[in-house]
Amino acid sequence: MTTMTTAPSPNAASSPMATAELPWGRHYAMVRPDHFRVDYVINPFMDVDTQPDRERARQQWDTLAQTLLGLGARVDVLPQRADAPDMVFAMNLGLGVVRHDGTPHAVMSHMRFPERRMETGSAQPFLAERGWTTSYVGRDGVGAHFEAGDAFAFGADLVVGYGPRTEELALKHLAGDLDVRVRGFRIVHPGMYHMDLAFNPLDERRAMVCPSAFDAGSAAALLDLVPDPLVLSEEEALTFCANSVVVGRTVVMPACPPRVRERLEAWGYDIVILDLSEFHKGGGSIRCLTNPLDITLGRDLAHVPGGEVLLP
Ligand code: ARG
Repeated sequence: MTTMTTAPSPNAASSPMATAELPWGRHYAMVRPDHFRVDYVINPFMDVDTQPDRERARQQWDTLAQTLLGLGARVDVLPQRADAPDMVFAMNLGLGVVRHDGTPHAVMSHMRFPERRMETGSAQPFLAERGWTTSYVGRDGVGAHFEAGDAFAFGADLVVGYGPRTEELALKHLAGDLDVRVRGFRIVHPGMYHMDLAFNPLDERRAMVCPSAFDAGSAAALLDLVPDPLVLSEEEALTFCANSVVVGRTVVMPACPPRVRERLEAWGYDIVILDLSEFHKGGGSIRCLTNPLDITLGRDLAHVPGGEVLLP
């Protein structure tokens, strides 16, 4: 029997549309900003003397939700708890993965700061009502912190940042609870306290990466993992440009520095820029406001019985 292969074109990796779209990113949970305030300071962007404008925040959030719907995504909305001013940042509620038998499981966050811990108490029943089983990284007094804004499906693995919020010990829980391989990367930059401020998968081969968010070993390992990285300077990342979501070939971004735009357009992406300035007062933007519910084990992530953690 003869096997025929076709030689890839020399520019395959950098030509437009050359790689497969992300298999997830068409279904999100979002928390309606009914009680969004800056009541305390847990990241360098927050200042209790600079409060978000309630009306403007609501309009910006509505525009984001409408934009996602317009791109064909589904959005499930949770109301915000009055005692949880940061709950709008839905990405931090937990990490959901649909197992290969179709059963969805979410690992709920165990927030670093007590000011946010009550949020998962509302998110868990919201998911349970929709058929999700849940586990909790901080269970049984083990207390490892995990915030899902640090976790991404990329390639066949779960990519997780740890340091400012998620603790290294949490990576073991994630790997075991989800039966996946977890690749950990140590974050050292105080302004990029969640991985979603410094990393953003664009498709199956490409991702935005800001190396200055990580220690040297982790930055090198992450650049090694991403076949075609869009490398961001510290200054570019601090515009929140990596805190974007990708729906098919459209990147919905709060900001897009010129060099980033050039590269995305050369790769064939459509760019939609939205104003999320009120939410930047809380230290988060588009990715933080949206939590994907369509990550699949078996298609997006490899099944690794018992899980495995790989550190640089
Ligand atoms: N004020 C929130 C915090 O510090 C912002 C969360 C931003 N979310 C994110 N996924 N990066 O926890």
